[in-house]
Amino acid sequence: MLEVARIVGGRALRGEVRAAGSKNACLPILAACLLTPETVTLRNVPDLSDVRYMADILRHQGAEVTSPEPGTLVVRAATVGHRTPYDLVRKMRASICLLGALVGRLRRCEIALPGGCVIGPRPIDLHLKGLARLGCDIRHEAGYLHVDASSARGSYVFLGGRMGSTVLGTANLVMAAVLTPGATRIDSAACEPEVTDLCQMLVRMGARISGIGSPCLIVEGVDALRGCEHTVIGDRIEAGTYLVAGAITGGDVLVRGVPEQHLGAFLDKLEAAGVTLESGPDGLRARGRATRPIEVTTQPFPGFPTDLQAQVLALQLTVDGLTTVTERVYPARFMHVPELQRMGAEIDLEGATAIVKGGRPLSGAPVMASDLRASAALILAGLAARGETWVQRLYHLDRGYEAFERRLAALGADIARLPASAMPTGLADD
Ligand code: EPU
Repeated sequence: MLEVARIVGGRALRGEVRAAGSKNACLPILAACLLTPETVTLRNVPDLSDVRYMADILRHQGAEVTSPEPGTLVVRAATVGHRTPYDLVRKMRASICLLGALVGRLRRCEIALPGGCVIGPRPIDLHLKGLARLGCDIRHEAGYLHVDASSARGSYVFLGGRMGSTVLGTANLVMAAVLTPGATRIDSAACEPEVTDLCQMLVRMGARISGIGSPCLIVEGVDALRGCEHTVIGDRIEAGTYLVAGAITGGDVLVRGVPEQHLGAFLDKLEAAGVTLESGPDGLRARGRATRPIEVTTQPFPGFPTDLQAQVLALQLTVDGLTTVTERVYPARFMHVPELQRMGAEIDLEGATAIVKGGRPLSGAPVMASDLRASAALILAGLAARGETWVQRLYHLDRGYEAFERRLAALGADIARLPASAMPTGLADD
């Protein structure tokens, strides 16, 4: 059933919320469960459609995946199949992180190539360059990659690309290297906390990795990995989204479950925008409105995360003056801009920069979500707008935010999830 969110703006959000487990940590971590025939128990697993989908892919590969209680997944991959068909890969681009896990475990794989997606081209040339540097033989045939790693050996890999480091490319190379004989040194590795979480889990499984959290990872291949228990880190992007929800409504929101160093560049910008921030053992707290325009440029970690770009752009719509938002990770990731313009936002797009002329009143409107983070930004704008906003294609939101509307409602938002048929006649675009 197609669902929509109806938001009536104007209420200040107040209260506490706990960030769920990180989606982007959880997806490669689930793939990594294929690296051992033993049992892996994962905790703090978020209840999201992308995570359920990844669990289905693991089952397709032959793993047993069970959930003995909410938030826990138990994976046992006694045997693993080497082929991942297009039908599975095309629905979720992140399934490409199976590549490294299958190469690590089986020394070969056949996996369909993912397509592009709405946030722009998403090449995998760096993933393949990394595997080729290890000595994998890679053939591309009829939309599939055929990888033979039987003679792979540890090696030196410079993994940086045009846009800097690659998150899933680093995850793939590390997963391949942990079971490849010899030492692999990865320079320009991604430093995102999600990559660190994966590496820490691999170490628990018996992998030998040093430099974790830095752009230089050194992996010494081992013969086999064992099962482990691992608790997934809190979702920094979800946490940042709730802090923006507080600030965009001039409220007071405390978010638990994510350390401030996972959000350094984002918190710095929020503070520059005039939001009062507190960080302590209880969590991260945002009080009051944004009052000043800012300049934001997205970059790989520890820079400002592209996954919070749309949300901060929405926040700055409420601030008088010119804010500039430049995308250096996905230069075309501005699908939310035309929808925000439908709500009265004044934004000029010049290449990879959005120039936000903030302070114009926002008015509720029917809008269309195009991707996960854009959906969140539209809901945030709806919280600040006069009147009713209807956000369509809510399934994008469910890929990455657990019970978003229920948790916003608990903070005092006037928001409801409704069947698309509940929209007033003439408003629905689906
Ligand atoms: N890139 C290449 N070649 C490659 C790989 C990447 O040129 O082989 C480029 C990309 O086109 C992009 C940049 O490098 O311009 C960074 O891409 P990256 O590989 O780091 O992205 P990803 O690993 O595919 C993950 C997250 C994204 C997040 C990005 C950037 C997961 C499952 N996805 O994608 O999350 O935006 O890192 O931080 O971890 C989201 O959650 O909404 C989302 C899109």
